[in-house]
Amino acid sequence: MDTSGISFTALYTGQVWYQNGMSARFFTSNRGHLMYRALQPVNLVGKRLMGLDLQEILLQRHRIIDHRIEHLIREEGVAQILEIACGLSPRGYKFSRKHPALHYVEADLPGMASRKQALLLQHKGFGPNHKVVDCNILASGEPDGLDYVLKEVLDPALPTIIITEGLVNYFDLPTISGFWRRLAALGQVFPKAWYLTDLFPDVPAGPSRPLIKAAQKALGIATGAKVNLHFSNTASIEQGFSRCGFQQVTVHKPEQFADIAPPHGASYVRVVEARVPHASR
Ligand SMILES: C[S@@+](CC[C@H](N)C(=O)[O-])C[C@H]1O[C@@H](n2cnc3c(N)ncnc32)[C@H](O)[C@@H]1O
Repeated sequence: MDTSGISFTALYTGQVWYQNGMSARFFTSNRGHLMYRALQPVNLVGKRLMGLDLQEILLQRHRIIDHRIEHLIREEGVAQILEIACGLSPRGYKFSRKHPALHYVEADLPGMASRKQALLLQHKGFGPNHKVVDCNILASGEPDGLDYVLKEVLDPALPTIIITEGLVNYFDLPTISGFWRRLAALGQVFPKAWYLTDLFPDVPAGPSRPLIKAAQKALGIATGAKVNLHFSNTASIEQGFSRCGFQQVTVHKPEQFADIAPPHGASYVRVVEARVPHASR
């Protein structure tokens, strides 16, 4: 399955982070800026009529993930991060400066990965233990299979976080569950690992449902991927992740992070934090 049609959406998020003081200018692009401007009216209407603001949602998920990473670095000694489907995320750039000992691996499909690599090289953006690699979550083996990256690029001795942001809703449940199961099985090799991802659940009937459904359709058409809202509530998210083999599944909501991600309007995006169970050998 070719999922590279999704990649251009990363230009928009990259622009949103920059416009809101969360990223460096070199992660922006003309196309990202165009999309940013074109979607401003849609954002305004969504906000006024239904309390939903796409930009705010993108900022919330990013801030919550950052906040949980800081917590796991501080409290659990996390020393390695793999950010899959990194797009133009500034996280590797920022965290590898703030925590120079941290091993930070950014990964994406080859086209996006080489774009990121070139930008970081050109703007001296690489931290001391920071790299970009190719990774396709649907592939296996060399050169970009998930199993290959996990085995050859990461150090299993280090407490590790695997992140995906803006990825999982582009895959149907059986496909993304296969990826989640492979991550949850990491505990056979990694004694201490966590998975952090954002996720858009389905919404019950109510004022925001028509907008969410329209956005789901529009995004599907633009990317050529079917956008899936896999779960309908916290309990079903917890069950879904537990079924894939994760432990201690926590579903974070924006309103629980009012100091760092003030909820403007409806609370929609969820950040799932799950422990990879250590398989005792
Ligand atoms: C919506 S963007 C999200 C990028 C970034 N994480 C963000 O939040 O802006 C989706 C990203 O997933 C990547 N992607 C698409 N299919 C993929 C796959 N099969 N394996 C790994 N990454 C993939 C795209 O290249 C793109 O960078």
